[in-house]
Amino acid sequence: MGNRERTGVWIAGALGDIATTVRVGAAALGRGLAPHTGLVSALPPMDRLDLLPFDALVFGGCDIHPGNPVEAAEAVCRRSRTYSPDLLDAVREDLMASAADYSVDPDMAWDVSRPQPGLPPLEMLVERVRDRLRRFAANHGLGRVVVVNLISVETLPAEIDGHRDLEAFEALLAADRKDQVTPSMVYAYAALREGCPHVNFTPCAGASIPALQGLAEQVGVPHCGNDGKTGETLLKTALAPMFAARHLRVMSWEGFNLLGNEDGRSLADPGRRAGKLRNKGRVLEEVLGYAPHGDVAIHYVPSLGDWKTAWDLVHFAGFLDVPMTLQLTWQGSDSILAAPLVLDLVRFADFAARRGESGLMPHLASFFKDPMGTREHALWSQFQALLRYTERHLRAAG
Ligand SMILES: NC(=O)c1ccc[n+]([C@@H]2O[C@H](COP(=O)([O-])OP(=O)(O)OC[C@H]3O[C@@H](n4cnc5c(N)ncnc54)[C@H](O)[C@@H]3O)[C@@H](O)[C@H]2O)c1
Repeated sequence: MGNRERTGVWIAGALGDIATTVRVGAAALGRGLAPHTGLVSALPPMDRLDLLPFDALVFGGCDIHPGNPVEAAEAVCRRSRTYSPDLLDAVREDLMASAADYSVDPDMAWDVSRPQPGLPPLEMLVERVRDRLRRFAANHGLGRVVVVNLISVETLPAEIDGHRDLEAFEALLAADRKDQVTPSMVYAYAALREGCPHVNFTPCAGASIPALQGLAEQVGVPHCGNDGKTGETLLKTALAPMFAARHLRVMSWEGFNLLGNEDGRSLADPGRRAGKLRNKGRVLEEVLGYAPHGDVAIHYVPSLGDWKTAWDLVHFAGFLDVPMTLQLTWQGSDSILAAPLVLDLVRFADFAARRGESGLMPHLASFFKDPMGTREHALWSQFQALLRYTERHLRAAG
């Protein structure tokens, strides 16, 4: 396969659990060592689109903590026991080959609520990321690089005028306002300025602020987000339409999430948790048309590691106002649920970019807790949008 047909996947948060599982999974798929289970892009009719094969993806990225993709993959294998040591051995060479494209940059870590002094100015950090993206593309002769945000949850700043238009946002960069510009905004801005499609799998701001949505339109680049829909919210958006369709009145929907990985540790911080809860909370009201009583709790339980438990209690009223209850327990590996979706999003973003599509990608709403460009939250309706998009492209391709 010639270089012209290869696409780069540059991940911010490249040594985290999801990023590592993405890297191992892509290598296993590329070598034909893993089935396509969990990949939406491998379902018919999406499998008939001209999507990039997995062995055409070249990986790179950066993290704020030291390490390399092999060490990270060994740690995930040991800690989470998701993929086997045999599978890791089979792809170790591929992971080693991409180590040079992973960089460590502790300067990219700050929190808007308490920006630490002494970091380089924002414009310099933007230039650093842009330079890394350019070098990554040049070193591998890549026609395109998709930038994926997989960093830890960050504290969201208040929405301010400086986030609304590009000129004002660039003024915040020039004034080095780390109390108003988050790291994920810097990655997104750098990506869009380099013409790279952007995927925000996290509840971080990324390219969701109006200034950056405008920039994506202006430079003609597709982007999508926010916050991958992998567990409890996936269940909610599948089940809530059932209650609506049967005219059952949901009185309360209470959710408890127990998780013990690094994401769980980050979410133990109330400031960071706020963004995640905002995304989770909005869903029911959008689907049902009213807001039942409900709380979503997230508890950090270190011994659970990547294996998350979500328990939901739905208290609803039926005919003659008789109350009934649905309880469900979801136990899954966060990274195993998330990684195939990241690969799907990369393939769809690359596909859209190759066809000159730009701006938001509402046909990818089913992948996100808080999809940009649509208020549709019901899973099946979101999935229909992806099917319609796919059919349109298949017809156009003849
Ligand atoms: N199922 C899921 O696990 C799921 C679903 C939706 C969203 N998410 C989100 O995806 C993200 C990644 O999840 P994870 O489980 O891999 O978390 P993780 O903590 O294992 O990985 C995050 C990585 O980002 C790095 N990082 C933090 N700040 C950074 C910065 N400013 N620049 C570069 N790197 C930075 C960390 O060092 C770490 O290696 C989180 O924001 C999480 O909320 C996860």
